[in-house]
Amino acid sequence: MANKNGTKKKKTSVIAISNQKGGVGKTATVVNLAMAFSLLDYKVLVADFDWQGDASDWFGVKDLAKKLNRHIRTAVENELKFSEIVFKTKFKNIDIIANEPNFNFTMRRLNGTKKQFKVVEKVLECQQLYNYDIVIIDTHPSLDALMDSVLAYSHYVLIPTVPEPHPYEGVATLMHVINETKKDDNPNLFILGLLISNFDGSATHKKYKTKLLEDQKRTNLAVLDTDISHVKDMKGAAAAKTPLAEYKKTTGAKKVSQEFVSIVQELSKFLKGKRIGRPQPMVSPEMLDVLGKSEPKSIENDFGAIEV
Ligand SMILES: Nc1ncnc2c1ncn2[C@@H]1O[C@H](COP(=O)(O)OP(=O)(O)OP(=O)(O)O)[C@@H](O)[C@H]1O
Ligand SMILES: [Mg+2]
Repeated sequence: MANKNGTKKKKTSVIAISNQKGGVGKTATVVNLAMAFSLLDYKVLVADFDWQGDASDWFGVKDLAKKLNRHIRTAVENELKFSEIVFKTKFKNIDIIANEPNFNFTMRRLNGTKKQFKVVEKVLECQQLYNYDIVIIDTHPSLDALMDSVLAYSHYVLIPTVPEPHPYEGVATLMHVINETKKDDNPNLFILGLLISNFDGSATHKKYKTKLLEDQKRTNLAVLDTDISHVKDMKGAAAAKTPLAEYKKTTGAKKVSQEFVSIVQELSKFLKGKRIGRPQPMVSPEMLDVLGKSEPKSIENDFGAIEV
């Protein structure tokens, strides 16, 4: 909380929602988790660092931000400050900073410079950020400099995954990059765990869920107690530009909204400033299998150290 001078930083938790694999429910988690936090009176900023801008679109600000040229790209390019790119959503306690595809060009221009690893810090690091209790970062399905930048600035990572064949694709490589980030840039980065997303209760999903639950004993990569069920209203909610909780009051939409509230309750004990309570994950044999039996090693060539 700001002190009498309005200067002291209060505890703001920055949570990255990440998985290198595409289509696993990252954006659905960002939007509906933001809503769940807001329903429990947290003040939330959604930071859409995915150039696809799906979270921006879901909250109904993508087109407006693009039209007004008030989005993350303009902040990274020094044209605007954080306070000038923030939009209020129509949902109480949820603000957003938006993205759009031209952000790719900015990242390409920064390629090869140190600035590419500081993009998230450059946009978010300001006094106004501490008006929020929670910052939820939506990420794109890639492990590039932008993702490094997200991980270097975040306190926490939550990893949505669908319990299907090869559930560690995306997760194993992300784990590797998280470990590197913890070592080099951000020792306090804390993995909240795997969130089973889009769970349809089929025999296949049950089988892979059981495997993920068994694996966590060996990997320390916790699986959250609450799953997010498949709900046919998810696409309709996105099209209607509203989180599930404010969409049709169908049984399915109500159930899944409540699951997101349960996730907030489950996570809140980790978001109190002390990042303790969970041993940090190792890369398991299953993950190593995805990585090709060994973690990437560094080799030297004419261009310096590269990873293979
Ligand atoms: N619980 C759910 N029930 C039903 N459909 C879902 C659920 N979660 C996600 N989906 C659907 O799955 C698709 C992918 O979800 P989403 O866009 O959230 O994934 P993503 O990981 O953000 O994808 P990307 O990697 O492209 O950013 C979307 O069509 C979304 O509506
Ligand atoms: Mg997405």
